[in-house]
Amino acid sequence: MKKEGDNSSAENRSEGLVEEILRLKKERNAVIMAHYYQRDEIQEIADFIGDSLALARQAQKIDADVIVMCGVHFMGETAKILCPDKTVLIPDPEAGCSLADSCDPVEFEKFVKAHPDHTVVSYVNTSAAVKAVTDIVVTSGNARKVIDSLPADEKIIFGPDKNLGGYINSVTGREMLLWNGACHVHDRFSIERIQEMKKEHPGAKILVHPECRRPLQLIADKVGSTAALLEFAANDDAQDFIVVTESGILFEMRRKCPGKNFMAAPAEDAECQCNNCEYMKLNTLVKLRDCLRDMKPEITVDPEIAERAVRPIERMLALS
Ligand code: 13P
Ligand code: SF4
Repeated sequence: MKKEGDNSSAENRSEGLVEEILRLKKERNAVIMAHYYQRDEIQEIADFIGDSLALARQAQKIDADVIVMCGVHFMGETAKILCPDKTVLIPDPEAGCSLADSCDPVEFEKFVKAHPDHTVVSYVNTSAAVKAVTDIVVTSGNARKVIDSLPADEKIIFGPDKNLGGYINSVTGREMLLWNGACHVHDRFSIERIQEMKKEHPGAKILVHPECRRPLQLIADKVGSTAALLEFAANDDAQDFIVVTESGILFEMRRKCPGKNFMAAPAEDAECQCNNCEYMKLNTLVKLRDCLRDMKPEITVDPEIAERAVRPIERMLALS
């Protein structure tokens, strides 16, 4: 029976398929990396699972010929930029990101040029072309640390996520100029329905990803990246947690904390599975098998763009 927040698809789970993937992985000398929002069965088979920061860090260290990035396109691009000599595959090339798409590189460059005295800080959820006009990249896991490392009087442009940027402004006292972008999944959680859930479970702690809107950040017991929310849940005494981020994270939360109760927060539209990122869920075990078999779809990045985009990513990794 499917449990709440279950990301698996039964038709994908045949034993033969898993064995085939493991055999192909060995033949190709490949490593399978997966984000916490991937389907359960992909997280189960991956060599490495993590948040965006951990995936970037891990890509830097990988000793294999092939990286299969089970995540969305910008995660594959980041791995390719950091490891230009490796083949980076993605099971479904349509696995994009609404937040990255909310920042058109041409428009963003105009914005940057209009503010020449500003340092440009971009969230990792951006295209390589946006990173190429960025001074330093951040993830939700290190944004505060990176911003705190900049001089207090430095003028900063922050893009593309207005909710994460607003959160960082609120905790650092900065007044960064924010790009008006957002993630369609995190932007549509319902505060009213989450407050009702809290009334039914008064002891529950509310865990909120900083891509969510400000009112949700304000009622949170913890605001943080997927990895930070996991760590909080593992170390906190509470039994019940309302999880206000993409529901794929429930798999690792339940695996790490078997005795605890994790509830997926509801979105505004009660009818839709809105706490699922449909881009993340495009990757399936079948497509994972196919990409290892066919060595495609492959992530490529224009070398001239990659040369400029690698600097702000490495600057971030050197800091955290
Ligand atoms: P994390 O950096 O917390 O892994 O989040 C990535 C993401 O896409 C959030 O929607
Ligand atoms: Fe992008 Fe939002 Fe999906 Fe994360 S959950 S990959 S920010 S669309």
